[in-house]
Amino acid sequence: MDEADGSELSPFAVPGERDDESSLRPRRLAEFVGQPRVREQLELVLQGARGRGAAPDHVLLSGPPGLGKTSLAMIIAAELGSALRITSGPALERAGDLAAMLSNLVEGDVLFIDEIHRIARPAEEMLYLAMEDFRVDVVVGKGPGATSIPLEIAPFTLVGATTRSGSLTGPLRDRFGFTAHMEFYTPEELEQVLRRSARILDVDLRPDGAEEIAGRSRGTPRIANRLLRRVRDFAEVRADGSITREVACAALRVYDVDELGLDRLDRAVLGALVHSFGGGPVGVSTLAVAVGEEPSTVEEVCEPYLVRAGMLARTPRGRVATAAAWVHLGLSAPANAPGGIPPTLFDSDPAHTAE
Ligand SMILES: Nc1ncnc2c1ncn2[C@@H]1O[C@H](COP(=O)(O)OP(=O)(O)OP(=O)(O)O)[C@@H](O)[C@H]1O
Ligand SMILES: [Mg+2]
Repeated sequence: MDEADGSELSPFAVPGERDDESSLRPRRLAEFVGQPRVREQLELVLQGARGRGAAPDHVLLSGPPGLGKTSLAMIIAAELGSALRITSGPALERAGDLAAMLSNLVEGDVLFIDEIHRIARPAEEMLYLAMEDFRVDVVVGKGPGATSIPLEIAPFTLVGATTRSGSLTGPLRDRFGFTAHMEFYTPEELEQVLRRSARILDVDLRPDGAEEIAGRSRGTPRIANRLLRRVRDFAEVRADGSITREVACAALRVYDVDELGLDRLDRAVLGALVHSFGGGPVGVSTLAVAVGEEPSTVEEVCEPYLVRAGMLARTPRGRVATAAAWVHLGLSAPANAPGGIPPTLFDSDPAHTAE
């Protein structure tokens, strides 16, 4: 169980959540909701490869946390009928770690490297040759006596996932034949995710309840599923188990998730920006101190959504509250606040805009 400390809306998996997630993961491409462009492109890549009877091009999955990169990597292997080997950038500290992994691959295997932007340099360089020529040079010994032994590896498909494609080196990025850019989900897509999850969890989720939860899930399936579990707890303990809009609203009030999907920390950030700094501009570290958080938390957890929701602008001189932020806090915006027009969240339902 996670606690109501503001982690409800983090796009990162919270401790203990991985198990819940694995039961809700889509297993096949047809089950994968949303991302129509990525799905179509991937389908072509996979079908083409199947037709040729060869391993498909290496695939890079890039996008914010919780949008389905790991799920897609598993789906790629499943659709190819191949085995999936899983590792991650931080686990590949030495080139030898990668060489061991690669030399154990069987023809057609899918190798998934999560957080591939964090791979150590020597391993990355070894990967270049492996991706291109299915070969690695293993250096044996040290100093003048060191020799390099070429080692053949079985043709495989690398699937890399990254939340920061910007920090991938050019040579690595260039070696992927196909890059899928994952986008945030629309509320309608999130409703579909929720309906599917409710079926698996055997929860009575009503259409208006699904709509309410979807609207507060920040475009992220992981958050939608997490809020569903929280609302289910509430519905079972304080109501008759069915999730209606009323039940969802009452539950999400308990968890401090407001109608735009902002939590206590988001509101604290906006509040500090408006009340303590006159709307900005202010540097992110100053802002983080004001709300008693790490700058990285403010930057990676709060800001991406606040920016996307049109509440916060990043300028060269610092963070600035937009007119919508003032309005969301129940204040009238000063004339110089950027973006005088209220935000339309993901071309969505007017019911979810701030009053
Ligand atoms: N398209 C989708 N359809 C249905 N459920 C989804 C979809 N995408 C993600 N999910 C749900 O969200 C959860 C998180 O997805 P996943 O672990 O694949 O995200 P991720 O992009 O790998 O995140 P991270 O960057 O944190 O590794 C999954 O367990 C799954 O239940
Ligand atoms: Mg993942």
